[in-house]
Amino acid sequence: MSVEIRKYDVVIVGAGLAGCAAARECQMAGLKTVVLTKVHPLRSHSGAAQGGINAALNEADTTSHEFDTVKGSDYLGDQDAIELMCQKAPETIRWLEKMGAVFSRNEDGSIAQRPFGGQSQPRACFAKDRTGLICLQTIYEQAHRAGVEFLDEWYVGDLVYDNATSKVNGVVACNLRDTQFAIFNAKVVMFATGGYGRTYKINSNAHANTGDGLSIVARHGLPLEDMEFVQFHPSGLAGSGVLMSEAARGEGGHLLNSNGERFMSKYAPEKMELASRDVVSRGIEREIMEGRGVGEKKDAVYLDVRHLGEEKIMERLPELRDLALAFLGQDMAKEPIMIRATAHYSMGGIPTDINCHVKKNPTETVTGFYAAGECACVSVHGANRLGANSVLEAVLFGRHAGENIVKDIEAIAMVDVDESSADKFMKEVDWVIATNGSERVPALRAYLQETMTENAGVFRDEARLAKQKEIIKEIRKRYQNIRIDDSSRLFNTDMQEAIELGHMIDYAAFIVEGALARKESRGAQYREDYQSRDDANFLYHTYATMDGEGNISLDKGAVSIGKFQPEARTY
Ligand code: FUM
Repeated sequence: MSVEIRKYDVVIVGAGLAGCAAARECQMAGLKTVVLTKVHPLRSHSGAAQGGINAALNEADTTSHEFDTVKGSDYLGDQDAIELMCQKAPETIRWLEKMGAVFSRNEDGSIAQRPFGGQSQPRACFAKDRTGLICLQTIYEQAHRAGVEFLDEWYVGDLVYDNATSKVNGVVACNLRDTQFAIFNAKVVMFATGGYGRTYKINSNAHANTGDGLSIVARHGLPLEDMEFVQFHPSGLAGSGVLMSEAARGEGGHLLNSNGERFMSKYAPEKMELASRDVVSRGIEREIMEGRGVGEKKDAVYLDVRHLGEEKIMERLPELRDLALAFLGQDMAKEPIMIRATAHYSMGGIPTDINCHVKKNPTETVTGFYAAGECACVSVHGANRLGANSVLEAVLFGRHAGENIVKDIEAIAMVDVDESSADKFMKEVDWVIATNGSERVPALRAYLQETMTENAGVFRDEARLAKQKEIIKEIRKRYQNIRIDDSSRLFNTDMQEAIELGHMIDYAAFIVEGALARKESRGAQYREDYQSRDDANFLYHTYATMDGEGNISLDKGAVSIGKFQPEARTY
């Protein structure tokens, strides 16, 4: 089968906020830019972000936003990157407005801001509870207007990486409509492929968030950073994990156990429901574990917003009300709704420097390769992200990546590649379609998700993590014996799901290996056998690489400390 080779200046993978923002910058500067996405851009997971985007709009300076972010990160966030993000946040909001994003307003016409967890000021600008969608629609529209080419329903399966020169020269993809392969040969590739929450059973992520971008990078021997840090959002709808925005608590919602107690008084007496996410999630799960859960299985707690009144709920939280009605049949204006912690956000990812260049080790970068958004780890979130800092990170660092590509590109060579670059991905697809084993992909995936939730979830310890390491090895072996039903090449979603599962197995191994080695509790990583943070031994970034058999090796990278020295973290 012949493979088409298409030439571009810039290839961007992923059409969420980071991908669209970067693409617009590149195209506006006259670079021939294409965005490849396995879903329609407006179905990217950025559109599911509900509660807000942070910026210190009405504060004397950005110091408090910086401090809250560093403290929220449990001192693992890189303070140079955090400073950049917080300082550029107000301008980012103005940029979004200028592009057409409509934010909710105060009576005097100024942009409204709501309180969010772990923050000392109401700092989350919002568009009702549809902030991500409004921002995504706006940036996508403007990228389109600038002339960016969008190729929807194209699945990227490999990176064209020359290890000898440390240079990325393109990607290999197939059109999901007919499984035709093409190489996208370019001076620059940027990954904006999103997070990896779908490796957990209860999660708030879109079905597309299977972390493909991370495994593709790791399969070339490049490192992933801080993969053990997976954020569990306190309020996912019971059963499904669908996000019930922190905005509900930001607007004044309460969390109640089966005794009707506002139990957060035990875990965060000062901040209560608005403590940092890791703290609130553990509080919820602890109440459930100790028998104070609600619902038939006693595996949820209540989120109660009735006291806000129907008018405010409809003005500020209309989407949430609809979701709770649709999924649970519970009307939050009339009754408390059932929630529990849900895997939500990936703090770890593809390591980048502050200007979005992908790193090949803790100190050197790859030429022609950039990453931004949830797939990247520029480490503004460290061990735990503050709510409403992710929409900010995606827009701001996406745009920043675009600006840096424009700055750098003249010095980057266009290296022509040939059809053989596509061999590996084509073989993978052919194998998945033809292999005739006895294992079913949905069953193996469910096994991975259930065991990750059980053994590498909110609470972790040596025994469960070691068990999960063995389970992943078992799943990897069984994956070699899969079979799918659809042997066609037309919209073969069976094939796509099988390939995605292969990626999920790879990065699950990174999560578990990093969590095992980190014998401390920091942010979202809570080890019941090592309950304290241990700066003397673990104040470092994990850099992990994988060999051809799926074995992981670990290295360390320095944390950038700025004006805030690590101190005890209480809320
Ligand atoms: O709760 C939320 O609205 C989620 C926001 C975020 O993850 O930043």
